Amino acid sequence: MAIVFHEESKEFHIYNNEVSYIIKILENNQLGNLYYGKRLRDRNTFAHLLQGDLKPLSAYVFENDYKLSLQHTKQEYPSYGTTDFRYPAFEIKQENGSRVTNFEYHSHKIFAGKKKLDGLPATYVEEQTEATTLEITLYDSLINTEIVLSYSIYENRPVITRNTRFIHKGNSKVILTRTMSAAVDLPDSDFEMVHLAGAWSRERHVKVRKLEQGTQGIHSMTGTSSADHNPFIALKRPNTDETNGEVYGFSFIYSGNHLEQVEVDTFDRTRVLIGIHPDTFEWPLEDGEEFQTPEVVMVYSSQGLNKMSQSFHNLYRSRLARGYWREKPRPTVINNWEATEMDFTVEKILSIASAGKELGAELFVLDDGWFGSRNHDKAGLGDWYVTNFNKLPEGITGLANKVDEMGLKFGLWFEPEMVNKDSDLYRNHPDWIISTPNRRSSPSRNQYVLDFSRKEVVDYIYGLMEKVLSESKISYVKWDMNRYITECFSNDKTAEDQGKTFHKYVLGVYSLYERLIARFPYILFESCSSGGARFDPGILYYAPQGWTSDDTDAVERLKIQYGTSFVYPVSSMGAHVSAVPNHQVGRITPIETRANVAYFGAFGYEMDLNTLSVEEKEKVKDQIEFYKSHRELLMNGTFYRHLSPFEGQVTAWSVVAEDKSKAIVGYYKVLNVPNDSWKRLKLQGLDPNKQYSLNGNPSRIHYGDELMQVGIIIEDKDFCANAGDFSSAIFVLKEIEALN
Ligand code: GLA
Repeated sequence: MAIVFHEESKEFHIYNNEVSYIIKILENNQLGNLYYGKRLRDRNTFAHLLQGDLKPLSAYVFENDYKLSLQHTKQEYPSYGTTDFRYPAFEIKQENGSRVTNFEYHSHKIFAGKKKLDGLPATYVEEQTEATTLEITLYDSLINTEIVLSYSIYENRPVITRNTRFIHKGNSKVILTRTMSAAVDLPDSDFEMVHLAGAWSRERHVKVRKLEQGTQGIHSMTGTSSADHNPFIALKRPNTDETNGEVYGFSFIYSGNHLEQVEVDTFDRTRVLIGIHPDTFEWPLEDGEEFQTPEVVMVYSSQGLNKMSQSFHNLYRSRLARGYWREKPRPTVINNWEATEMDFTVEKILSIASAGKELGAELFVLDDGWFGSRNHDKAGLGDWYVTNFNKLPEGITGLANKVDEMGLKFGLWFEPEMVNKDSDLYRNHPDWIISTPNRRSSPSRNQYVLDFSRKEVVDYIYGLMEKVLSESKISYVKWDMNRYITECFSNDKTAEDQGKTFHKYVLGVYSLYERLIARFPYILFESCSSGGARFDPGILYYAPQGWTSDDTDAVERLKIQYGTSFVYPVSSMGAHVSAVPNHQVGRITPIETRANVAYFGAFGYEMDLNTLSVEEKEKVKDQIEFYKSHRELLMNGTFYRHLSPFEGQVTAWSVVAEDKSKAIVGYYKVLNVPNDSWKRLKLQGLDPNKQYSLNGNPSRIHYGDELMQVGIIIEDKDFCANAGDFSSAIFVLKEIEALN
């Protein structure tokens, strides 16, 4: 791994064994990009890769010099208004109203390791040798402002991370109106854009479309990363599939409004911009003030989408997620939400918990409905203490003790950022909600958003949560966030500072997480947002797992978990078995299939297990046993997607142990096909020379090469539920020596 500066050609080459990224200081002292992709052998200059001569109608940079127009130059951090007409990476409004800037190369630093981003989540290193960082400082003397572009390359990963810092040294006020975290100009447009779109209950469905001239992109202006568009895009070559071909993945470590935009110009050059959404952002900088953008993670793969995803999984599992629970086996959960919603008694809760305990669950989670006057969704949010002692006579402490006595850990639901008007909090602090003066405040689920851009609001909520969590035996917190932000306005800010509100809100959420995880390092935090509406890498830095979706139907979960796996590791995806008919879609699927899907996530149950038949209970017991004995592999193994639920009736995926001694394959059939053809499933990532047994069956022993070249021969008897609709099969592969 290296970052080399070639003095003579003024070029930076950032590379490791897998990727190269090459930057050049151009004739006008601004930065151009020469190359991003598979590793190139280093040489003194790659200047010939600039290739951007003038075209008719081009404006050019220097008088009587007809070579340089920024319009045709692949740049590092482009601006608008001076010979480039594409969307820019940043925009700074100045006191005289101008938005034209001239940021020239000033200096650079190369150092081992990777810096933390103040107040923001980011990938990190544990040893300085794991990454090298290049910081290039650009300077505009007219406004006395610096931009620091930061690039870190990991040693053993095809990963480059980027972020940008604006430092206003001053002499007049400037206003940042656009601050992308990264811009990447690519020399052609022969790509398809892959992204993860959705809505409540069908989050992160995989979408693929061919790039066309003009702009295309995704965004969120909901105040959160949203269920609509996950902050991720990839550009893949048209023939790239899961196993072969080139793909560039871009993931944004942020939980607020975001923009991922791809612009193809009329000469088929492609510009990728990723950052905080500029339309809901404005950040004035006084003399001496700075602004730090969140981080973008760029993964390059020349071996298809699986390799891209595996690089994200590995990085996010081990160098984004943090803390005690990072790589620990996650407890099997029993959650009461779908069983009772808010209508419960202590007896009911204890009976659900005890049925869970009997069948092997390890953690009981009490969901919504335990605090304030919360019996329905019109009241209580904001009052994070028990007031209804009819419902919980001994409060949370008493209930937690009882659950603890049963031998189960206890977890609790919060929605820290929200308030109902019918609450003590709102009655005491009506100005603490985000709302625009003299305008209607639009409710959503009868609730309003607390202004987390204000420190005193965050401090207050911290105080309430700290009290509950320190007074009772609580091992787990489900942190929910059930609405988007409307009428965004902060009552403690001046007119000029209103444009800071959305971003400061996100910083407020991060600060509360940070304080709580520092105070309670052994509590496992699971994020949630009406299911998976804020399932993003920013939150993953604080909460190592998230509730993937409120949709617990096994068939729907195939799509949701498959799409989520494009970026996020199995260890991050909360996945529970729930009752049938399914609450969201009314579908009846076999309990085996529900578990076979949920195993590929942080596993649990979302139902009253008392309602099951004796036979079903036995199955649940076996499922929990199965999960416990395989969870380390399921959570930390290398995940492969094989067959896509978006392309046919059959879905398949697998995880393979790092030493290739074991693998677990999930194979799922949605609708049965009459008189179907014979099926084989080709695996990946096994050791070709090892012999594996399938489900311990002595007559199904095969070498890895056969399992990868020919595949598992799928037999009807492999399926649960008579191989009918919604049936599935799990194959556990074990290296044959490991059997004995
Ligand atoms: C959201 C969550 C659910 C549940 C409810 C409680 O919808 O996604 O899992 O916690 O809130 O109100």
